Amino acid sequence: MTHHDPVSAIPARVPLATRPVGILRTVMIARRNVLGIIPELALRQPIVSGQTGIRWHMVMDPDSLRHVLKDRVEDYPKSVVTKLILEPAIGDSLFIAEGANWRWQRRAAAPAFALRHVQALGPVMTAAAEASCRRLEAASGPVDLFAETVAATFEVISDATLSGERSFDRDAVHHAIDGYIAQTAKVSLMDVIGVPRWVPRPGRIFAGQGLRQMKQIADRAITDRAAAAQRQGPPDLLDLLLDADDPETGRTMNRDELRDNLLTFIVAGHETTALTLAWALYLCAFDPDVQDRAATEARAILGDRAAAAADMER
Ligand code: HEM
Repeated sequence: MTHHDPVSAIPARVPLATRPVGILRTVMIARRNVLGIIPELALRQPIVSGQTGIRWHMVMDPDSLRHVLKDRVEDYPKSVVTKLILEPAIGDSLFIAEGANWRWQRRAAAPAFALRHVQALGPVMTAAAEASCRRLEAASGPVDLFAETVAATFEVISDATLSGERSFDRDAVHHAIDGYIAQTAKVSLMDVIGVPRWVPRPGRIFAGQGLRQMKQIADRAITDRAAAAQRQGPPDLLDLLLDADDPETGRTMNRDELRDNLLTFIVAGHETTALTLAWALYLCAFDPDVQDRAATEARAILGDRAAAAADMER
């Protein structure tokens, strides 16, 4: 988001690139706002190709995306650089694995995301929303809503993956993950502009303290859980993965695979959802009509209680 007048009547816009620019200019634009390096042409053309250091292709057309990501996924491997960056943190988990190693993990993990399991975790989400509202009510003056949505989604994802981990220092983990995501973003910028592989990436730092702690917490939770008797309450993602097996081969996840996938869920399911929420709220802020309609609809169904999973269909 570029800096803008807070009382402006229209949402901030990032001017997209209207012509190819060199590496130096790309870096300058990206340092201000990385969205600025997206070619405007990509909004109208199914595929745009260019060369900024490395050769790249940008695909936005839904049919082409299906082709790349689903129908012919075997023909489009993930970049080696992506793997180098992410592997130290989340191993060869769902997010990174390819081919047979991806497919069996995908088959094993898919049932964990069945509607009934997600609905059973509804109270976690309702509680995080209510806590968020309480914090907003108590605030005086302007609030950074992104900080708020990140806090809320982190609460949800950490409870949904590792519910009841009392000993776990949420602030430390939260901090480690946010730092890690920020590093990763910088690293991928180096890839976009084609900095050669042998140039050290800032992301190497992430092998540090925070990440080690994150892994230790997950490892300990897995060991404790596997040894524990029946737990109270609905199964969280750790329970579901502990029970998961590949319906075709019967293979189950070993401790490292469990840990890497749990961390994947935490990293992948936290800033993504927070940004989506923050942008939605930001755009609503410019449209009082939409706000009124949403509020009226919510009140008609909920009165003044918070929404629960069962309300979703309505
Ligand atoms: C609005 C929210 C979200 C957005 C925009 C988003 C976006 C994405 C994208 C673009 C990918 C593909 C990455 C690639 O293949 O290069 C992906 C994969 C993935 N995401 Fe999300 N995500 C969101 C929420 C979540 C949540 C809540 C979770 C977990 C609880 C999650 C877990 C995953 C996993 C496990 C993968 C890898 C899937 C596979 O390759 O089989 N994501 N996500």
